[in-house]
Amino acid sequence: MKNSNRAKESVAADVQFAVSESYKTIRTNLQFLLNRSVGCKVIAVSSAQAQEGKTTNSVNLAISFSQLGKKVLLIDADLRRPTIAKKLKIENTDGLSGILAGFSTAEQAIVSINNYLSVLPSGAVPPNPSELLASLEFEQLLASLKEKFDYIVIDTAPVGIVSDALSVGSVSDGVLLIIKAKSTTYHDFERVVDSLKLANITLLGAVLNGSVVEEYLPNYRSL
Ligand SMILES: Nc1ncnc2c1ncn2[C@@H]1O[C@H](COP(=O)(O)OP(=O)(O)O)[C@@H](O)[C@H]1O
Ligand SMILES: [Mg+2]
Repeated sequence: MKNSNRAKESVAADVQFAVSESYKTIRTNLQFLLNRSVGCKVIAVSSAQAQEGKTTNSVNLAISFSQLGKKVLLIDADLRRPTIAKKLKIENTDGLSGILAGFSTAEQAIVSINNYLSVLPSGAVPPNPSELLASLEFEQLLASLKEKFDYIVIDTAPVGIVSDALSVGSVSDGVLLIIKAKSTTYHDFERVVDSLKLANITLLGAVLNGSVVEEYLPNYRSL
């Protein structure tokens, strides 16, 4: 029993290591891709459908950049199904929707997690998310936040369902698409890539989320 527990712990540690290494690889690739843009780099994260790993990847990517000693702001711009505040256990009274509606300021709404990582939660779910994200106010807010941070990672709603991510993508350096293994269809992915192209938005790359790393499988099976 004890041996089995130890084996499980060792596999869990291996998987943890593999996950954090994967985020470092994504981070490095993005750094190469964005090295031409000067100043703050803005990365929008989206996918075709809900539940494909946009928020998980946005949070981990923001953490990964902050571990380089960069000043990072993570924004929850999925104003339809926001989950970052709950996930990070921070307050969500002020937030992006509050700033855009003129109820609060960025200073009031941004939550500092540590010296490097800050979070702008969604705020209350508004009745008009598309309008808010396509507004001049959103563009101006982003321009002012770019003065204060090295990286801004923006979690968005799925491209396949609403236009919100396209509005966010058009004021970002590009969009990172999340593909969920054994779930995102080729057709859905192709449609998203076409929408980005049509809107003249840079596709930074795609992350395959939730795939099983074969080399750990034998260990799992033997537990
Ligand atoms: N690679 C993964 N392995 C295991 N669970 C995951 C993985 N990626 C996401 N999840 C889980 O799947 C659910 C949906 O992920 P989330 O990041 O919230 O998706 P989205 O933001 O695209 O709706 C969450 O419960 C999350 O914890
Ligand atoms: Mg989400």
